[in-house]
Amino acid sequence: MEVRLAKTAGFCFGVKRAVDTVYQQVEECKNEKIYTYGPIIHNEEVVKDLRSKGVEVIETEEELKQLTSGVVIIRSHGVSKHIYNILEDQGLKCVDATCPFVKKIHRIVEKESGDGAHIIIIGDEKHPEVQGIQGWSHTPVTIIKTEEQAVNFKMPENTKICIVSQTTFNYNKFKYLVEIISKKKYNVNVLNTICSATKERQTEAQNVADEVDVMIVIGDKHSSNTQKLFEICRSACADTYYIQTLDDLNMNQLKSVKTVGITAGASTPSNIIEEVQNYVRFNF
Ligand code: F3S
Repeated sequence: MEVRLAKTAGFCFGVKRAVDTVYQQVEECKNEKIYTYGPIIHNEEVVKDLRSKGVEVIETEEELKQLTSGVVIIRSHGVSKHIYNILEDQGLKCVDATCPFVKKIHRIVEKESGDGAHIIIIGDEKHPEVQGIQGWSHTPVTIIKTEEQAVNFKMPENTKICIVSQTTFNYNKFKYLVEIISKKKYNVNVLNTICSATKERQTEAQNVADEVDVMIVIGDKHSSNTQKLFEICRSACADTYYIQTLDDLNMNQLKSVKTVGITAGASTPSNIIEEVQNYVRFNF
């Protein structure tokens, strides 16, 4: 059987960097307690493994304020400036694994709001990355996700506006919302800060799914980017299966097929991908 593994399957650059940072800290800081501010990725297996190595997850700002010693790792989503201030006030050591692409948005928002622009973030207000970006503005921010919100957005004419985007936002939707806002009489500066990693993973998954008999998508059931990958693959290949680990793979589905494609969501560790790949490669 021929197995085609998507090159972009699994962790993107920023997530890999953040996860590697935690494991590196575990090795280096044997005498200090290590925390991550929020789960480092949305993958139960990884969080469980880190917990077994003594890494604790801090869920809230209040919990953070209770700490008086230890190392706190900031995940790839980034955090607001306010959180860095708390870390400093509490005398905690901060290891910053914010993805550089997110960090860049923080700098834009800090500078542009400081120069008097009103900031619009195109994204989901509940997403921690968006909340972090918002926390770098000197002035109140507008978060827009829907057509209705874009239509209803109102400011005085000629207001200086700077638009940025959540890194994982859909490009076509971003363009559409920006068009609506740009038609109004503002002085608009648009900075497309969407990261290409998601798009590349989706395009490659579709190309692989187009050419195989069966497609396997690996990822956490709660991962929205894996769900999206599954939808894309299923529309290209009817026999597409969504699994979390090798245990979920139904062997009967793979009997008598010639080619199998594999891809994985952004929070799927490489050892799970390899395990599935090796199993399919050597057992069929
Ligand atoms: Fe990943 Fe950073 Fe892009 S976390 S999706 S490489 S913005």
